[in-house]
Amino acid sequence: MFLQLKKLFQYISQNKKIIMSLFRIKSLNKLMAESTDSANGLKRTLTANNLIALGIGAIIGTGVFVLTGTAAANHAGPALVLSFILSGLGCAFAGLCYAEFASMIPIAGSAYTYSYATLGEFIAWIIGWDLILEYLFGAATVAVGWSGYVVSFLESFNIHIPPALCSAPLTHDLTGWHSTGAILNFPAMIIIAVMTWLLVVGIKESSRFNSFIVVVKIIIILLFIFFGMSYIDTANWHPFIPAEEIRDGKSFYGISGIFAGAGVIFFAYIGFDAVSTAAQEAINPQKDMPKGILISLLVCTILYIAVSLVLTGIVNYRELDVAAPIALAIDKSGNGLAWLGIPVKIGAIAGLSSVVLVMMMGQPRIFYSMAKDGLLPPVFGKVHPKYKTPYVTTILTGLLAGIVAGIFPIGILGELVSIGTLLAFVIVCAGIIVLRYKRPEIVRPFKTPMVPLVPILGAGICLLQMAALPADTWYRLIIWMVIGIAIYFAYGKKNSKLNQGD
Ligand code: ALA
Repeated sequence: MFLQLKKLFQYISQNKKIIMSLFRIKSLNKLMAESTDSANGLKRTLTANNLIALGIGAIIGTGVFVLTGTAAANHAGPALVLSFILSGLGCAFAGLCYAEFASMIPIAGSAYTYSYATLGEFIAWIIGWDLILEYLFGAATVAVGWSGYVVSFLESFNIHIPPALCSAPLTHDLTGWHSTGAILNFPAMIIIAVMTWLLVVGIKESSRFNSFIVVVKIIIILLFIFFGMSYIDTANWHPFIPAEEIRDGKSFYGISGIFAGAGVIFFAYIGFDAVSTAAQEAINPQKDMPKGILISLLVCTILYIAVSLVLTGIVNYRELDVAAPIALAIDKSGNGLAWLGIPVKIGAIAGLSSVVLVMMMGQPRIFYSMAKDGLLPPVFGKVHPKYKTPYVTTILTGLLAGIVAGIFPIGILGELVSIGTLLAFVIVCAGIIVLRYKRPEIVRPFKTPMVPLVPILGAGICLLQMAALPADTWYRLIIWMVIGIAIYFAYGKKNSKLNQGD
């Protein structure tokens, strides 16, 4: 043992230079200079309201329209509202950390850039690579959810799309991967293609489209809350926390069900951090970034709490394991809420479109920042001469997300997105503590309160939710990271601008 330790120390001292280069840090002054350099850069057009709409656009989607049902039926029961509060609390702590970083380093790369300035190049690469899981795979996941809603909407008008053309050709169970006989999920690929086009044409246009959709989906959710309230049968809230049940060796309900429910509906909160990827396009990023992140998160948390109370009040939690729980609640109300049926479907379809849009807007901007730093080839950093958008990476994101959405089932994708995003949140929380101690003098237009308590709680709740995800998802995360590390050593490490003494 002692000999091995000695060998390890010898190895470290012989390769000190190489190891140290993994932790080289991009100076904050350089970052700030880049953020104000608008020549050849992105156009600054987004106001605080645009940013809040961007956040809400990314947050409200599959989580509330699809996953609330499973979370209540299989995990939390009427205590779903507690799952929403718990997961929302973790996101609020992480959101406060994001807000500090986004106001201090308003650069397009989000958590990738923050870690480059604090934890070093290697961790920055890891997080940048990890964010692909959140944004690119996230867009693909929601596109698959969108496809499901569109197919069922068309069915209500007697238009039937053959399952072979609208479902995943691959599925996974305890015995491994199998073919389903389907060709590809074409509607999911089509929505990705449309959003890609919109994003190439311009961020202002995309943001206008997004703001319109955000208004639609908020109105639909408010209508459901206000009109649904009078159909609540309080007997459905009893018992509020159902007693734990064990079926086939799996645990349902009880206190642990609240945590498991939080792990599932965490997906519903993903997206507030997407605001930080638009930092370089904000007119007044120092002030407006924290507003965009925190207000969008607050609005959605309040809406989610109300929706979960109304939903579990109208429908008994045991009946909620369906793909469209809100539609089920409307049916349960008898004729009273029937008029809301079609608007809710339209709202869900529109709402999911805007999540795809914002996710797909975030990804290219992270690639763009990585290319500017030399960690990806320079072509990734190209901005369109007329539209001023990072069109190369937008098209690449569209192609990859389209393939993923066309092939894989929603469950596998959703868990991968959640674990990737939770990891990013943990690193951002850690980064806040590191930077407070290493660079206390930097001006922070927004300060996370109660450091280190808030970042520690944020990271802790996120780690708990990661632990609740299945082992297979962990393996997939590890494989994804190993691929990323191989690419870093093959390309990024050599070509990094910091390596070239730039
Ligand atoms: N929060 C987003 C959704 O629920 C990702 O669709």
